[in-house]
Amino acid sequence: MAITPKKVLVIHGPNLNMLGQREPEVYGFLTLEDINAHLQEKAAALRISLDTVQTNHEGVMVDTIQNARGRYDGIVINPAAFTHYSIAVRDALAAVALPTVEVHLSNIYCREDFRQHSVIAPVVKGQISGLGYYGYLLALDALRSLLTEGDS
Ligand code: DQA
Repeated sequence: MAITPKKVLVIHGPNLNMLGQREPEVYGFLTLEDINAHLQEKAAALRISLDTVQTNHEGVMVDTIQNARGRYDGIVINPAAFTHYSIAVRDALAAVALPTVEVHLSNIYCREDFRQHSVIAPVVKGQISGLGYYGYLLALDALRSLLTEGDS
């Protein structure tokens, strides 16, 4: 029996639209378009269907997560600054209960104190922090494995 391709939504949070120009010593020189192109390439190799969105707005992120229910099999999210304080984003992820991997380009555990706590981490499958854009690709690998565990 044919296995339906898994659908994954990648959500990029605030200020990530400025990647490439924004503190490149922290976040690297790749633009968001570059990262999304790498993600599409990886998704094709894994036979995953992938959509990417970026928002600077907390409410839009909440709506996007809620709308993912029933449309996607899993989520990769870099909540950016919302990581550290958005109970609304955390609650949305808990509500939809889709397998989710949290990604950070920088290693949030060796930065300022306020970045060292994620309110998102307790409601996701796992977190990848500090590996630059490669973290997104690893997240896709991990999600595929989580999503196909039951497939023969
Ligand atoms: C970030 C880390 C956050 O602390 C920061 O607010 C970001 C990006 C990262 O990818 O390293 O905007 O999520």
